[in-house]
Amino acid sequence: MAPLLILAKWLPVLVATGALADINLPPIPKDRTTPVQQRIAIGGPNTINIGWSTFEKLDRPCVQYGLLPEFLFWEACSDSSLTYPTSRTYSNVVTLGHLLPATTYYYKIGSTNSSIEHFFSPREAGSEEPFTIAAVIDMGVYGADGLTIPSDATKRDTIPKIDPDLNHTTIWQLAQSINDYDFVTHNGDFAYADQWAEVPSLVSDPVEAYESILEQFYDQLAPIAGRKAYMVGPGNHDADCTENNFTPDVSCPVGQTNFTDFVNRFGRMMPKPFPTRSLNPTARINSEKAMSLASPPFWHSFDYGMVHFITINTETDFANAPDAPVPGGSVNLDSGPFGFANQQLEFIKADLASVDRRITPWVVLNGHRPWVTTGGSGSICVSCQAAFETLMYTYGVDLAIFGHVHNAQRSLPVFNNTADSNGMNDPKAPMYIIAGGAGNIEGLAAVGSNVSFIPFAYADDFSFATVSFLDRNHLRVNFIRSSTGEVLDSSVLYKSHREQFVVQTPP
Ligand SMILES: *[C@@H]1O[C@H](CO)[C@@H](O)[C@H](O)[C@H]1NC(C)=O
Ligand SMILES: *[C@@H]1O[C@H](CO)[C@@H](O)[C@H](O)[C@H]1NC(C)=O
Ligand SMILES: *[C@@H]1O[C@H](CO)[C@@H](O)[C@H](O)[C@H]1NC(C)=O
Ligand SMILES: *[C@@H]1O[C@H](CO)[C@@H](O)[C@H](O)[C@H]1NC(C)=O
Ligand SMILES: *[C@@H]1O[C@H](CO)[C@@H](O)[C@H](O)[C@H]1NC(C)=O
Repeated sequence: MAPLLILAKWLPVLVATGALADINLPPIPKDRTTPVQQRIAIGGPNTINIGWSTFEKLDRPCVQYGLLPEFLFWEACSDSSLTYPTSRTYSNVVTLGHLLPATTYYYKIGSTNSSIEHFFSPREAGSEEPFTIAAVIDMGVYGADGLTIPSDATKRDTIPKIDPDLNHTTIWQLAQSINDYDFVTHNGDFAYADQWAEVPSLVSDPVEAYESILEQFYDQLAPIAGRKAYMVGPGNHDADCTENNFTPDVSCPVGQTNFTDFVNRFGRMMPKPFPTRSLNPTARINSEKAMSLASPPFWHSFDYGMVHFITINTETDFANAPDAPVPGGSVNLDSGPFGFANQQLEFIKADLASVDRRITPWVVLNGHRPWVTTGGSGSICVSCQAAFETLMYTYGVDLAIFGHVHNAQRSLPVFNNTADSNGMNDPKAPMYIIAGGAGNIEGLAAVGSNVSFIPFAYADDFSFATVSFLDRNHLRVNFIRSSTGEVLDSSVLYKSHREQFVVQTPP
């Protein structure tokens, strides 16, 4: 979501003052093998992908790892060190496979200037150990006194002046509580680099401003994303160099269009669907089909313990997708497609149809733009609802996690704007949450109108959600106030998960 931006109002000022760039690009380390912007992800069954950036191309990115920090016995390498026009850095990815499940590993990125970190390897599909994930969407870069201020535009030019202690923010709270969750899901709208134009001091060099916001954001995230898998999907702010309806229309340089940073950073990190462990022949055919139709980082899936997670792309690649080129796209972001016609929808269908609930009873869907929201017609993605909702009901998605609207919301299970008559007690329809209040330059969105099937909505402070999978039949959603850690709302969904394969006819 975005206010109308008027670049024109800054131009005369710049001309008059001859203002020079006041852009805080992070310093380039003397040792250019120094890893920055570290991030890890679940890369496949028993697999973690380690990603990081460097200020030089690496011939052979390597990671040493082991079960004790003193004995980093194994080494994995790749030749994957890629950049794109306008970027100052190279993005490196190394895959660590054949890991023991649910085990702490230590790792050191190959460099003459790196330190030892650790991660917890993925739980095996079918494991019934309870676990918790954190859901944050629409995060944005942070500053000491809050870039993420509700409406005080005078503070917005503090964007490039980042204080590293990350106080009073969602990133700070995620760092504080890092032992409380297994991984983070962040379904789009990462740094808000496309909003450089709201910061007067950045307008002098938009290209550099965009890169500086990206670099600072991913440096801020590194203490979390370098330790906990950071699982992502696309959002509108990741598409292009300027947010929609920018006036005058600027043409973005090559490198700042069509989700380029998102693809460069996360394309090699997100997993292909895992081969099913089901013995059911139809499930196996659908699982193979889903593997061939996935298009990470745009749409993909993975299994983790009791849960099958699927990420969809609400930005491009379906009828009237908002970020697609005109005439289909409505927000002038000219992006995609990232698959052939209907590839995403065929993927979702095959992927959901492959889920054997005896192995992974829970199905959780991640996306960016919602259609279940208190925000009013402007924030409802009508074309998303038309494309995805029936598939989600048919294959029994249990919980859907969205953002885009900048606040916290929890719905009762609902289909076609009608609450499921079973409520939270074994409904057929999915329950929806919006975890879009993480904080960013646009600030919080008002709570909106009271929708009968949305019992909780909160926009007084920045927040995020945790989802705890308690057992095969119960999951708990908590909303957390970022500044204090207090639980704002808590709810438990019960599902009997009686069917091995769920196929339901919508009402
Ligand atoms: C080594 O890494 C640290 C931490 O990232 C950085 O501050 C320092 O500048 C690096 N040293 C050199 C010589 O590049
Ligand atoms: C900010 O940091 C200081 C010092 O670490 C701490 O005392 C204070 O509680 C923090 N404030 C918030 C709102 O997190
Ligand atoms: C965006 O990138 C995809 C994948 O490379 C490509 O197929 C598509 O044509 C690009 N879209 C635009 C508008 O450049
Ligand atoms: C939703 O409900 C309306 C009537 O309220 C109906 O016309 C429409 O077909 C329904 N849509 C779906 C996808 O079931
Ligand atoms: C809407 O109103 C109902 C009934 O007064 C209340 O229980 C519910 O919490 C309200 N929802 C929101 C999001 O304010």
